[in-house]
Amino acid sequence: MIRFSGITPSGHATLGNHLGAIRRWAREGGPGDLYFVSDLHGMTSAYHPQRLRVRARELLATLVAAGIEADQVFVQSDLLPQLGTLTWILECTCSFGEAARMTQFKEKSARRELEATPVRVGLFTYPVLMAADILLQGADEVPVGDDQAQHVELARTLARRFNGTFGEAFVVPAAVTPPAAARVRDLANPARKMDKSARDAVGVLYVMDEPDLLRRKIKRAVTDGLGRLEFRPDEQPGLANLLEILAACTGKPARDVPAEYSSYAELKEAVAEAVIEELRPVRERTKELLDDGVELDRIRARGAELAAERSAHRLATARRLAGVG
Ligand code: TYM
Repeated sequence: MIRFSGITPSGHATLGNHLGAIRRWAREGGPGDLYFVSDLHGMTSAYHPQRLRVRARELLATLVAAGIEADQVFVQSDLLPQLGTLTWILECTCSFGEAARMTQFKEKSARRELEATPVRVGLFTYPVLMAADILLQGADEVPVGDDQAQHVELARTLARRFNGTFGEAFVVPAAVTPPAAARVRDLANPARKMDKSARDAVGVLYVMDEPDLLRRKIKRAVTDGLGRLEFRPDEQPGLANLLEILAACTGKPARDVPAEYSSYAELKEAVAEAVIEELRPVRERTKELLDDGVELDRIRARGAELAAERSAHRLATARRLAGVG
């Protein structure tokens, strides 16, 4: 069984990435699993090359710091020749309409148009690159937050279509979404997900934030004037988000949390302590790895080598069946 997933270095890792993805990958990982830093996906909007490089390195360190085995991580661009090849094959399998239906593309391109910034073709085709990531590695399961489930669905469609048209090359992957904290929300604006590429960071908790900063951001989290400590996501989204975060950190159901607190302030203090303790070991280990450049380079090179070896036969089969190899 191969579980496979990735994270894009479009910013520093957030608590949402940690609870919704990285922590789960580390806890539930099996010997066949593979996780990666999708730096190629970080190029779909204006970006700074040096920053992309540094963040990719930081995220690689964070994956290992969170407990994922060092020989089960790699950086996507280290497999650029293989992925470029497979992306083209899959682009010629995917219809324009299918790509245009992707909610994330629709949202992001609408935002860019409002801001009068160009929408890159890479933003449009990136779900196909994501399908190439998944299908190249023969993933059986792709654990993702619910924001990525539609992209995994596209990978399933393309795998089935390729297999049906040209012959069996790919495993049809399944998306797996975590039961708790599938979507951690921005503390300042609970209508939005907590996003590492958000421009305004007041409501975003980063894995690398120092405890004091985490505490301050949580204290300022938007709640409501109702003063009712209950788990009601529709009526009290800000409060529900805090309850879900605390639940995810403590392992208790979010519905059971309110009974333990008598005020929003008391709850926020508990959330802050839980988040600080949850992130502390990851932050400290990430720093250690970043300080040990030789070890991190070794992990990266080995990861790339293993991921390339694991996928070579699948790419060769796909090329042969597609008539280009
Ligand atoms: P990315 O970098 O946006 O997010 C990485 C993972 O974190 C989850 N996530 C969240 N979970 C809970 N609450 C949040 N606020 C939150 N924000 C993000 C995401 O669901 C994701 O699981 N395109 C992908 C990376 C990727 C990929 C792949 C994943 C590239 N190729 C192939 C799986 C398979 C992305 O940008 O994730």
